[in-house]
Amino acid sequence: MYLSRYEERLLNGEFGEAKALAMRVLVRVGEALGAQELIEISHAHISGISYFNIGDAGLELINDLVHHGGHVETFTSANPYMVLEDFLGFKHDEEVINKQLTILKLLNSLGIAFYTCAPYNVRPPKYGEHLAWAESNAVLYANSVLGARTNKEGGPIALFAALVGRTYKAGIHLDDGRVPEVLINVESLKNPIELSFLGLLVGELIGNRIAYVGGVRFRSISELKLFLSSVGTSSNTAMLVIEGITPDSNSLYSRADFKESFKVTYTELQEYVRKFKKLVRDGRGLYLIGCPHLSYGELIEVLGKLASKADRVPHLSNVFKDRELWVMTSKMFLTHEVKEVLSKLLRYNVKVLTDCCAVVSRLDKLRVDYVVTNSIKALSYVSRLSRVPAIAMELDDLINTYFLGLDVR
Ligand code: F3S
Repeated sequence: MYLSRYEERLLNGEFGEAKALAMRVLVRVGEALGAQELIEISHAHISGISYFNIGDAGLELINDLVHHGGHVETFTSANPYMVLEDFLGFKHDEEVINKQLTILKLLNSLGIAFYTCAPYNVRPPKYGEHLAWAESNAVLYANSVLGARTNKEGGPIALFAALVGRTYKAGIHLDDGRVPEVLINVESLKNPIELSFLGLLVGELIGNRIAYVGGVRFRSISELKLFLSSVGTSSNTAMLVIEGITPDSNSLYSRADFKESFKVTYTELQEYVRKFKKLVRDGRGLYLIGCPHLSYGELIEVLGKLASKADRVPHLSNVFKDRELWVMTSKMFLTHEVKEVLSKLLRYNVKVLTDCCAVVSRLDKLRVDYVVTNSIKALSYVSRLSRVPAIAMELDDLINTYFLGLDVR
């Protein structure tokens, strides 16, 4: 691989052992993928920083990097961490919480200060920017909606890229790496939650290939985010070319030589949705919104809906003794306006959780008996990671159900 003079010096350890290690890994991975050179990035995003995900081994790696002089060379954000708050009075073990706090402290020393799975809310990349991102929903959003360029990196690779401000130039960074290979035509859908199930189905059909998706209409960015997060749940692809959404979709379509095509009909999708309907039992319920994390506009909209519902529903304390509603977003959106609405919603057990992710937090250990969410990604992960039964419904239904009870579904 060709390296500039500066990159040679990084590799030779002139800027510390942490950066030299990062260079060794990036060059090795890049060469394995046929990259001829490295490329400068404007934003790295690291995934897997929850102690439940990376455990002691991950903590030690980050610790080593800090102690070998590691510091990021570009704007860097990271995925949310495990929930540190309680759920109806239950918290995670103190030891686990302390290890998570140590990870955050170390990441801070590396120069990371933003924790969200929607880094495009914190620093929206421009068209054509090169990134090294490692969160599936964010990677799909950056490539498919914003026209930026990032492979779907593993957490450590994104961290190494952050340390040297570069990544290997291969895959999605190249024009040829963005051309779709699979064609998906979709019959019109009736309900927003079906879009998320559609995402899961599309992900299963395409595996790690790039698909051109035609026939889908999104009424809002929120729907688009939920759809893409579902695609990233069942597939490894880094990009979709979506008709009318992806910049350059026409030229990418015209360059495509489709190897396979699928038509997704409404009946097929209904069949697929039926497979996922699960019965949720009684008990302590967690209602979850914000997977992926909400933008400021989405947060205000959701809180507005909750407040207006709360105004119309009498507060019966025994109704809310066994359920909480969590809304997940970034700390930077916790404004005075948000706090004011929240103070009114407190007695309905509504919380805004910032910088963390309930889904990777082992909800079973918080004694959650069931989850209701508007995100198919959350539904899928919660059932798998925490083995807590979960159901999905669209946002307005979820809010009604939270205030009025599951039997009104
Ligand atoms: Fe974000 Fe956690 Fe969902 S990282 S996309 S809230 S699983």
